Amino acid sequence: MARKVIEPGGAISGVVELPGDKSISHRYAILGALAEGTTEICNYASAADCRSTLECLQRLGVRIDAQPDRTRIAGVGLGGLKAPRHKLDAENSGSTMRMLAGVLAGQPFASTLTGDRSLRKRPMARIAGPLRQMGAEIRSADGDRAPLEIRGGHLHAIDYTLPIPSAQVKSAVLLAGLYADGVTTVRESVRTRDHTELALREFGAAVEVEKGIARIHPHPKLEPRHLTVPGDISAALFLIGAALVLPGSELMLHNVGLNPTRTRVLDFLIGMGAAIAVASLQSRDGELVGDVAIRHAALEGGQVSGAQVAEMIDELPMLAALGAYTEKGIEIHDAKELRVKESDRIAALAEGLRQMGANVEEFPDGLRVAGREGSTSSRMRGAKVDPHGDHRIAMALAVAALGAEGNTTVLDADCAAVSFPEFFGALSRLRGKS
Ligand code: S3P
Repeated sequence: MARKVIEPGGAISGVVELPGDKSISHRYAILGALAEGTTEICNYASAADCRSTLECLQRLGVRIDAQPDRTRIAGVGLGGLKAPRHKLDAENSGSTMRMLAGVLAGQPFASTLTGDRSLRKRPMARIAGPLRQMGAEIRSADGDRAPLEIRGGHLHAIDYTLPIPSAQVKSAVLLAGLYADGVTTVRESVRTRDHTELALREFGAAVEVEKGIARIHPHPKLEPRHLTVPGDISAALFLIGAALVLPGSELMLHNVGLNPTRTRVLDFLIGMGAAIAVASLQSRDGELVGDVAIRHAALEGGQVSGAQVAEMIDELPMLAALGAYTEKGIEIHDAKELRVKESDRIAALAEGLRQMGANVEEFPDGLRVAGREGSTSSRMRGAKVDPHGDHRIAMALAVAALGAEGNTTVLDADCAAVSFPEFFGALSRLRGKS
């Protein structure tokens, strides 16, 4: 369990090529496995979570050749997965577990999905419910937690309204819909990321999308594809955060995924005064990509609530950590989902940021991190902080530490590898420290 000592100060400057987007990589791998023929994916995410997806697919009989520059997946077709001899271990990855559950619900064999201690505590009723409605048999540990034993088979198409905004749940139902006996519909009242819909279309499935409704037709022949995964905007945000904490910073990010269901955070930061410009926007494999330039600027502060929460769900830890470096602070509400992520992110942020001297108020559904409000210093000081095994908390606290007085030790900092293994190296390089 490696700890990292963060020395404050300096500035960020340079150009970054980001690792592939975690969300998109999971989807390309799963659909590649279900296509008929070999799919080649460039810039597949280096995130440990995406390796978990590949390992689960291998246990289902899919041959995968993962090289640093490209990942080749020998697709077995919708009906070609094999009953696994061992449990499928999604490790820390909620996306792996929830999306694969959708696929496994359609298989004529039993399989068990499990995960690490954190994942085994996370709610799975949200996918077990609709998948049972479709006809899958799912046995789970108490309170619908993993391990999930899934006995799949003939699935019925359903018309499902998401009770909570969740792209993972939407995706699980749409993937199960590939195996159903009619058209499966998923309705959402709050927009969530639409990578599954876009990827299904790329692989040749018949998906119809209109405002808030996605419909999938069953039993398509999925075509193998050559695809390039855009850089991960959620990972990028931690470097953007560093540039916003450190005066004098200038950063250029190349090939960033700019799907509109993911970019709300950039608009929010711009609204607070951040100097962020997007250039070279283009569509690639159905996803928007472009370059993002950031210059340090003073931030006003702001509030996040309602529909914004789902669109910035993974960015809220970084935004909260920026709170102390804004004028008026950051206040987040309607975000109780944060309590059931890789950690209870509201509690973990409140604890870590308070240890660094921030003035934090915790609410059941969010938190408020006070800003400078008239004083010139951020009042933040170095401390020993515990990310509770959560990659995004580790990176958010490390960024907060950059503007503090004195060194900060982030315990168990290597958990950042779950989504962004290159983070600490990139930070050092951009600060001219390696
Ligand atoms: C994801 C959806 C979100 C997000 C997660 C990735 C996805 O989860 O927090 O990191 O790839 O679909 P929920 O669907 O639980 O909101």
